[in-house]
Amino acid sequence: MSSFKSVIAGIGGYLPESVLTNEDLAQRVDTSDEWIRARTGITQRHVAKEGEYTSHLATKAAQAAMKDAGLTADDIDLIVVATTTPDLTFPSTATIVQEALGMTHGAAFDVQAVCSGFIYGVTVVDAMIKAGQAKHALLIGAETFSRILDWEDRATCVLFGDGAGAFVMSAAAADDDATGKGVISSFIRSDGRHRDMLYVDGGPSRTQTVGHLRMLGNQVFRHAVTDIAAAIETCSANAGVETADIDWFVPHQANQRILAGVAKKLGVDPGKVISTVATHANTSAASVPLAFVAAKADGRIKRGDLVMLEAFGGGFTWGAALLGY
Ligand code: UT7
Repeated sequence: MSSFKSVIAGIGGYLPESVLTNEDLAQRVDTSDEWIRARTGITQRHVAKEGEYTSHLATKAAQAAMKDAGLTADDIDLIVVATTTPDLTFPSTATIVQEALGMTHGAAFDVQAVCSGFIYGVTVVDAMIKAGQAKHALLIGAETFSRILDWEDRATCVLFGDGAGAFVMSAAAADDDATGKGVISSFIRSDGRHRDMLYVDGGPSRTQTVGHLRMLGNQVFRHAVTDIAAAIETCSANAGVETADIDWFVPHQANQRILAGVAKKLGVDPGKVISTVATHANTSAASVPLAFVAAKADGRIKRGDLVMLEAFGGGFTWGAALLGY
């Protein structure tokens, strides 16, 4: 058993200034505010401006998380960026963030698990910290999905937004009660048989293009509810925790009806489920930390709370992580 645990030392988020409302979208494609609200819960989304890249959003979220942790870039020895919309095919967005933070030490790499990227990132960083390979890690979920949307496809272009959220995850002695419980358990899964239900139709090797997001929404929806509920149950059971004892659920923000469906399936009080779908829309790997930041800012999530993070995305990939904040 490791003598280290990973604790959440700080959190931060960043949303681009420009806001695109449902009414704005109804000017571009055959949709309506009523349809988008009723089917998804979304009312608006933030969109990066020209010249604003995923690394810019990631750097701002990272700076906010370091400030919250009372640390500087000198203290950080690992940067992991969960993204599906990197600035470039390579180098990794994490190394671009590393340079932007003025760091010439430590290691930086990207994780690609689409909307589940932050949960995969928590799992990877937690394992590295427990293995003694990092003391203070920046885990950032950052996306500019606006760059891979087909703005003529009403079935997908209304669903997504841009943004970034970050955790500083720090090593603490496993038996140090003063630092809080930290990451208690995490569970990740994937099933590549379903990759054609949610994918981007371009890439360097196959098409030499960036491509656009394609999704069979209603089929993804069914899998998401079932698989997220199962991931939460497995993650709780592995930790020996009853779902009823969890203070807050911080889900990936794809659709208000998915959040409600999972809560109903598990018998969870919907008041314990943090939702930012209405104002952020689906920001892929950024949605979980951004929702966490919003719920801390409004006084719901507090130090000492038991919090379940969960997500589902392209691949399919899915997972959950339970932490004592
Ligand atoms: O983040 C990764 C995970 N992603 C998700 O979890 C997304 C999961 N899927 C969903 O959230 C939902 O399936 C959607 C919001 C994408 C769609 O909702 P739905 O209730 O499953 O609708 P649908 O796809 O079955 O489409 C119903 C109707 C169709 O018209 P017909 O065939 O019934 O005449 C669509 O053409 O709604 C139509 N439609 C729209 N109408 C107005 C699809 N998009 C729009 C739109 N505005 N934007």
